[in-house]
Amino acid sequence: MRTPEPVSGDPGTDAQRAAPADTGAAARWTAGLPKAEVHLHLEGCVPPSWVGGGSGTGAAPAFTTLGEFLGHLDRSCAQVTRGEQLQHIAQAITARARESGAEHVDVIFNPSHWPAWKRDLGGFVRALDAGLAAGEEEHGVTSALCLSLLRTQPPEDSVGLVDWLLEKRPPRVVALSVDGNEAAAGPTGERFRPLFARARAAGLRTCAHAGESSGPDGVRDAVELLAAERIDHGIRAVEDAALVADLAARGTPLDVCPTSNVRLGVVPSMAAHPVERLRAAGVRVSVNTDDPQLFGTTVAGEYGACAAAFGWDRRILGEIARTSIESCFAPPDRRRELLGALDRYLADPGGTALEDGPPAQEGSR
Ligand code: ADE
Ligand code: ZN
Repeated sequence: MRTPEPVSGDPGTDAQRAAPADTGAAARWTAGLPKAEVHLHLEGCVPPSWVGGGSGTGAAPAFTTLGEFLGHLDRSCAQVTRGEQLQHIAQAITARARESGAEHVDVIFNPSHWPAWKRDLGGFVRALDAGLAAGEEEHGVTSALCLSLLRTQPPEDSVGLVDWLLEKRPPRVVALSVDGNEAAAGPTGERFRPLFARARAAGLRTCAHAGESSGPDGVRDAVELLAAERIDHGIRAVEDAALVADLAARGTPLDVCPTSNVRLGVVPSMAAHPVERLRAAGVRVSVNTDDPQLFGTTVAGEYGACAAAFGWDRRILGEIARTSIESCFAPPDRRRELLGALDRYLADPGGTALEDGPPAQEGSR
C-alpha cells in the first residue's frame, strides 16, 4: 500500500479529470449556496491511489453494477488499517464539503466493509471523530456519523452492531442506517424492523437505502416497517404513483445521488433520471455524492448537473438546499443557523458570486 497522500494529492477519478472546469458565475453561485450533504459513504472516500493492484494509475476502476461496486469497497477499505488513515479520510471529507458549500455532512459508515477494525470499532469511531473534529476546526463544516448495517450480512452481525451502538453511544454517531444490495438480500424489512425500533427508542435518527436495487416495495418497507426518517436514493418510488403521492404527503425526504445512479446502471442517463419527476410531484429531494472518490462527484457538481439536465433555476436549487439542511441530522440549533444562512444567500439578488453576469441556467424554465 502506498503512503497516504495529502488531500490535495488525491488523484481524483476519470470522471473528475474528464469534467470540464466550470469556473463561471453559475458554478460559483451554486458552490456558495449554503447546503448540507446527507448521503455520503465513508467507504466511497478512500483515495483510489491507496488501493494496491489494478492499473496502478490511481484511477478508480469502472463499475457497471452495484454488486461489483460493493466488492470493490470491501477490497479498498481492507487497505485501511491505521487510525491516521481514517483521520485523513474524515478530514478530507470536510475539506471537499467546504469547496461545495456543504456546511454540514452526515457520513454513513458500514463496519462490515472494514475488516481491520472488526474488533476495535471504538478505535475506528474515535479516529473518525478526531478527523471530523479537526475538519470542523479548519473548515467550519459540522458533521455526524450514521452507523450502517449491511442488507446481506448475517442477522446476528446486525444485532451485534446495534447492541454495540446502544451500549457505547459514541456522541458523534447519531443515526442508524442500512445499505448494501437490496436485490441480493431480497425483502428484509421485517428482519431490520426491530433493530430500527430499538435505535429510535434510544433516541437515534434513522435512514435507509431503498429504491436503488429494490423497486417501490423496498421504499414502502423502509417507510412503513423501518419508519426511516430519510430514504437514501428512493428513486424507484417513481414507478408507483400512489407511493409517490404518499411520500409527498408524508414529507419524507429522498437523498438522491444522480451520478451514482447513472454510473451503477440504475438509470440510463442523467436526462432520464427521475429526480425531476419526483420533485415536480411534490416529493422532498436533496442531491448528494454517494461515493465521491469513486464516482468523481462533488455536491456542487451534482447541483450543477441537475441544473443542466432539468433546467433547475436558483429557486429550485434553493429548495433542494433547504431540503438538505432540514433533513440533515445536525442538532436543531445548527439547522436553524444554516437555514438562516441559506435565506440570506437567496435574498441577495446580486450576490458577490454574480459579478460575471447571471448564471446560465437562470430563466431557462
Ligand atoms: N454503499 C456505498 N454506496 C452504496 C450504494 N450506492 N448503495 C448501497 N450501498 C452502498
Ligand atoms: Zn448510498
